[in-house]
Amino acid sequence: MTREFLPAGTAGIIEAAPAAAPAAIEADALVVFLTEGGVGSGGAAAVDAATGGLLARLAGDGELAGRRYECLSLFAPAGLKVGQLLVVGLGRGEEVDAGVIFKAAATAARHLAGRPRSRVAFLPEASWNTPWLEQAVAGGSVGMIGQDLYRAEPKRTRFGTTLWIGADAAAVARGTSIGDGVNLARRLVNASPDHIYPESFAEEAAAIAGRTGLEIEIWDEDRLRRERCEALLAVARGSSRPPRLVLLRYRGRQRASGDHPDLAFVGKGVTFDSGGLSLKPSEAMMGMKMDMAGAASVLGAIATVAALKLPVDAVAAVGLVENMTGPAAYKLGDVVTARSGTTIEIHNTDAEGRVVLADVLDVVRGLAPAKMIDLATLTGACMVALGHDTAGLFTNNQACCDALAAAARSAGEPVWQLPMDAEFGEQIKSDVADIKNVGEGRMAGAITAAKFLERFVGDIPWTHVDIAGPAFADKPRPWTDGGGTGFLVRSLVELARATG
Ligand code: BES
Ligand code: MN
Ligand code: ZN
Repeated sequence: MTREFLPAGTAGIIEAAPAAAPAAIEADALVVFLTEGGVGSGGAAAVDAATGGLLARLAGDGELAGRRYECLSLFAPAGLKVGQLLVVGLGRGEEVDAGVIFKAAATAARHLAGRPRSRVAFLPEASWNTPWLEQAVAGGSVGMIGQDLYRAEPKRTRFGTTLWIGADAAAVARGTSIGDGVNLARRLVNASPDHIYPESFAEEAAAIAGRTGLEIEIWDEDRLRRERCEALLAVARGSSRPPRLVLLRYRGRQRASGDHPDLAFVGKGVTFDSGGLSLKPSEAMMGMKMDMAGAASVLGAIATVAALKLPVDAVAAVGLVENMTGPAAYKLGDVVTARSGTTIEIHNTDAEGRVVLADVLDVVRGLAPAKMIDLATLTGACMVALGHDTAGLFTNNQACCDALAAAARSAGEPVWQLPMDAEFGEQIKSDVADIKNVGEGRMAGAITAAKFLERFVGDIPWTHVDIAGPAFADKPRPWTDGGGTGFLVRSLVELARATG
């Protein structure tokens, strides 16, 4: 399988290797997974046998417990050919899921990628099902890449070759594509906002479309004006960088059943959010290069769907703007007419994401997809509700939301649904226009934002995902140096699989 998403020459080889006894494996390092409660009967037990009971001894001494994401390095262990054995903990066996496996593999890769390695072998558990193996491979690929794109001496170095011992080659190839999709989204988020702005993001999308065979349309300012995308254009006016709307189309469906996509992915692509005239304080503005994470994840997801050649028709649409304070910036009290005809009174220029998405959702609604999922770093309020690791789900159609939640469960990405009762919609009534772009005060801010978006989706089954918390890691964690996470790429790929 070709590696379409990473810049040429930087991907590293990831492949399956024939099953082998631990003693026969030749590599700089061997990674083995361990659950709590002893060496068990899987890979750790095989390594234990090959090393004359080393792991059981360490477990007995309390040096090795298999706690989640705990790493223990053993150098040149007798009985093995590898220079280093890395044991990574999975925690309690009954709590292991796709998310734990992804993060454990990423933790091991991150640990080892602190120095250059030409060959790293992973010993996956024979008891893992295929989706778990794929998530492990993806995690191994994600963990060896850091966020320091601009450092002379990067903290992480990709392995020359990663081997998955005894694993199914097709599953390893799929996991690699999934990891590439996540890493693509992470790279776009981690890039400086002076490098990734609406036009340059659109160019990145065009390059990826060219390599993966996706159809692409890029709407410039003239086209946006002709399409009456006045809401998106209003947000863009404060910036010297012109906006773009990018539409990507993947056609993988075998059966002929009309031109309606099975799935539409929509992403918020605010390449920098200063807050506009409702200016953010400096501490809150730092980090706002990540406000295009929804667009980045949507691009990573559709590129992966294309690489996997899934039998579905899918579109991805991203609204790309920079929210700035230039002389033409949109103002408080402005009333903008969205593409749908709905008028929006602007009460706060920092609630810009919903204003941009109003037009993007309307464009996609016109394509009549069977379901529509939008991803947006939309509200700080969603982080207050659900913290840094969990995304909020909001829907007009419970089956659509349930399908996404199931996909997120199989990928191991945490999501939680919040209510959408009609009463919350009262808060966005305006005295002068159809709606205003903020609620009353700060209460239920994530929900009032979702109620705003709901006005633009018509009767299309739709789920909004507020990824403000999980899209970006402010601090390092065992499985990541921090920075962009590529959140929800893996779940969207699972959703496309379940759909096709
Ligand atoms: N991009 C922000 C939301 C955000 C905040 C994402 C922190 C990630 C981390 C969004 O455009 C925003 O500024 N929302 C405002 C809305 C408010 C003005 C109604 C917010 O959450 O404060
Ligand atoms: Mn904002
Ligand atoms: Zn924003």
